[in-house]
Amino acid sequence: MRITLTRPDDWHLHLRDGDALRAVLPHSARQFARALIMPNLRPPVTTVAAAAEYRRRILDALPEGADFEPLMTLYLTDDTPASEIRRAADSGFVKAVKLYPAGATTHSDAGVTDLARCDAALAEMERVGMPLSVHGELTDPAIDLFDRERAFIDVVLQPLLERRPGLRVVFEHITTGEAAEFVASAGDTVAATITAHHLLYNRNALFAGGIRPHFYCLPVPKREAHRQALVRAATSGSPKFFLGTDSAPHARRAKESDCGCAGCYTALSAIELYAEAFERAGALDGLEAFASFNGADFYRLPRNAGPVTLEKRAWTPPASLPYADGGELVPLRAGEPVSWKLRA
Ligand code: DOR
Ligand code: ZN
Repeated sequence: MRITLTRPDDWHLHLRDGDALRAVLPHSARQFARALIMPNLRPPVTTVAAAAEYRRRILDALPEGADFEPLMTLYLTDDTPASEIRRAADSGFVKAVKLYPAGATTHSDAGVTDLARCDAALAEMERVGMPLSVHGELTDPAIDLFDRERAFIDVVLQPLLERRPGLRVVFEHITTGEAAEFVASAGDTVAATITAHHLLYNRNALFAGGIRPHFYCLPVPKREAHRQALVRAATSGSPKFFLGTDSAPHARRAKESDCGCAGCYTALSAIELYAEAFERAGALDGLEAFASFNGADFYRLPRNAGPVTLEKRAWTPPASLPYADGGELVPLRAGEPVSWKLRA
């Protein structure tokens, strides 16, 4: 069996920098025409000037002959001025501004402590149509880890949309039925990305026979009913849901540690993993809209030209890949078969 799609895009990708960037970029560039690049470097990408330099480093790291366009994001802080939003809109290459609630995840310590402090920036984003890309978890340590996304909807997202009804929002890497329902019933200014790992795994994967650090990511996968709700949303045909891998590389030693980092490395086989999830749902004919059309339409960019072909042919990702500083990177599904293969 074989399927052909318009070239897909990845609307949520962590590429890191330097040697790590060079190690992971070819995997995404092989599959995707474009990707929205997350700004949580150290230091974070908070200005258009920094985004321009990061974009140049990504382009310089591309393998010879690759056809891949990095779309950049700015990291929102309590102090982001409206003038920086205007510059971003004028740049042509900054396509979203990312909200990390301070303390929510990897390199989020410079993130937003209180959205009220960002009102000038948010008003400008609403005015110029710049999307806000949202890590939707409440960071209050008193709230159960598994409830942080749901709580974020009521405490932050709903009030934000009431205050700024024209603001375009992408609820990133949703993990709950509540988030899927919220997005489906919101206006057409609100959309969501869904990762391959949240479509394929529930929270049992983190504890299958022992603790499994390579399945640990944020937001953490939820129970099976939520996974099923995500599959229904992704395969529903609604244009509000689209592909965003949240592929987030960390060295093996940083994950297999007494305080392991959050992030699943899915870029090696991303489109193949999504094909598996859609096939299991009996919805392969919906994969193209989810992977190749809906995100481009939401971001008001042209759809890609040219096809990619996937074959139903099992292959096994390696146990690890070379990474920065002599480290190793463990891809999701390391040593276990993936049932689809992208043709070169
Ligand atoms: O699991 C995650 N890893 N979630 C995030 O939000 C950030 C990411 C990373 O940068 O490692
Ligand atoms: Zn992410």
